[in-house]
Amino acid sequence: MLQPNAMILAIESSCDDTAAAILRNDRVLSNIVSSQVIHKLYGGVVPELASREHQRNIVPVVQMALDTAGITVKDLDAVAFTRGPGLMGSLLVGVSFAKAFALASGIPLIEVNHMEAHVLANFIRDQDEQPVPSFPFLCLTVSGGHTQIIKVSSHREMKLLGETIDDAAGEAFDKGAKLMGLPYPGGPLIDKFAADGDPERFKFPVPSVDELNFSFSGLKTSLLYFLENNVKKDPDFVEKNKADICASYQGTIIRILTDKLIKAAKSTGIKDIAIAGGVSANKGLRKALAETSETQGWKLFVPEFRYCTDNAAMIGIAGYYKYLQNDFASQDIAPLARYVI
Ligand code: KG4
Ligand code: ZN
Repeated sequence: MLQPNAMILAIESSCDDTAAAILRNDRVLSNIVSSQVIHKLYGGVVPELASREHQRNIVPVVQMALDTAGITVKDLDAVAFTRGPGLMGSLLVGVSFAKAFALASGIPLIEVNHMEAHVLANFIRDQDEQPVPSFPFLCLTVSGGHTQIIKVSSHREMKLLGETIDDAAGEAFDKGAKLMGLPYPGGPLIDKFAADGDPERFKFPVPSVDELNFSFSGLKTSLLYFLENNVKKDPDFVEKNKADICASYQGTIIRILTDKLIKAAKSTGIKDIAIAGGVSANKGLRKALAETSETQGWKLFVPEFRYCTDNAAMIGIAGYYKYLQNDFASQDIAPLARYVI
């Protein structure tokens, strides 16, 4: 029998953030994220270290989520967890924890696709009157591992219209930042430096890719050659021009994303547009999409920053819609490193 107030514990451990959240229906009561700093030493996520950190963090993070929400295990109605896609070792920690937790506390398990959860972050309501997208809408999901345009017909029906054929948008940011000597993850740093730069100063190529698909590896390579050529002439080139390089490089990524989104909106006739994923925290992208929405007559939906990068509140909202349909997982469930929408 469905409870009128579903209290859900959500767990996210697909990559390098150990996260837990408590939701009452579509309201977030707590949202705890423990970001693993150890990977900064290596310039990228080291899978084996990520799983060990998840093991260390998961119990205190879940406890903190319960304490912050002011509830105990007895108040919970279900536990939702990220089944995939992600790093197998990282996923295993969250999946095993969720299964054991559900078994020990006698509550049902809900498996969640991490990419669907990024999309559904647009339905988290922190206020009563918060507008949410109407179906069908398009969602541009841009993260460290994915770049997708998704047609969303209901909370449960999503269709992939286009995706990257090589690097993800987040990878383009992070790899570009690495070439400039910035620490991992470089996306937020490029965003920060770009704010003071001229996006027209340097020109980078915009790839021509079929349909609604994306490509970012050529852009990264052109940045590599551009930096090599200029550093040969002036070893301080990057330091002297950091803001303009970041603004121009970021501007090209934004153009690639925006052009395809316009194409998708035109070909489907859909004007409710949402964004999701870590890269949707990018201030330049948010500004560009707000401007594009004006010219294209779109209604734009942008989640709060804390629901854009990896978090468990989004796993909770995705879990909530499954809970409403009694769509529970069995104890036999296993993680999926690849899990397509
Ligand atoms: O969704 P997410 O937190 O994790 C994945 O599922 O991948 O996305 C992480 C990605 C990283 O590549 C990070 O550099 C990028 O999101 N990112 C940003 C910004 N904040 C996070 N990229 C550009 N600008 C930002 N402000
Ligand atoms: Zn993600």
